Amino acid sequence: MTAVKINGHHIEVLFDEQTIAARVADIAAEVAACAPQRLLVVAVLKGSFIFAADLLRAFHRAGLLPEVDFMMLASYRDKTVSSGQVEILRDIQTDVSDRDVLLIDDILESGRTLAFAKDLLAARGARHVYTAVLLDKPGYRAGDIDADFKGFDCPDKFVVGYGMDMGHAYRELPFVGYVTNP
Ligand code: IMP
Ligand code: MG
Repeated sequence: MTAVKINGHHIEVLFDEQTIAARVADIAAEVAACAPQRLLVVAVLKGSFIFAADLLRAFHRAGLLPEVDFMMLASYRDKTVSSGQVEILRDIQTDVSDRDVLLIDDILESGRTLAFAKDLLAARGARHVYTAVLLDKPGYRAGDIDADFKGFDCPDKFVVGYGMDMGHAYRELPFVGYVTNP
């Protein structure tokens, strides 16, 4: 495995640029094969911004004509409260009624974030709400939500890069990895 040294920290690379790019192109083809109608892409900020940017350009190459909006959510994972809570910090400004929506997030872990966003957009009258995540950590699911499109199964590590952070650092990395000496 490749390791990269950044500011004194060693990052073990899990998914490199080429591997991610190939998978992103595959996901775009999978989405295009669903022939979404009046497609609205909703990127869940902040973690999904690079994945969403790459996926959107792959959608263009796959012949899709999406509109784009953004939602910023905060999830509170208080271990003493099993239900978990998700708060909207920034809502979309697009009417989703009768549209096919694709929600994009970085990681599907408990699933609370994506389930919350999916239910919200469905309640607002979306025709269908698809979900796409770069990484799936299936061991921690709180409900029965699964992503319609996913990049990779993620090992049980706290991952950084390609939009994802650890203490606000590492979002700029073009690959996904984990810090071995935090
Ligand atoms: P959940 O599916 O609601 O539990 O939350 C998933 C969210 O937790 C993701 O959108 C990330 O923002 C964050 N998250 C979970 N695991 C990681 C990780 O390994 N690195 C960075 N963020 C993570
Ligand atoms: Mg997130």
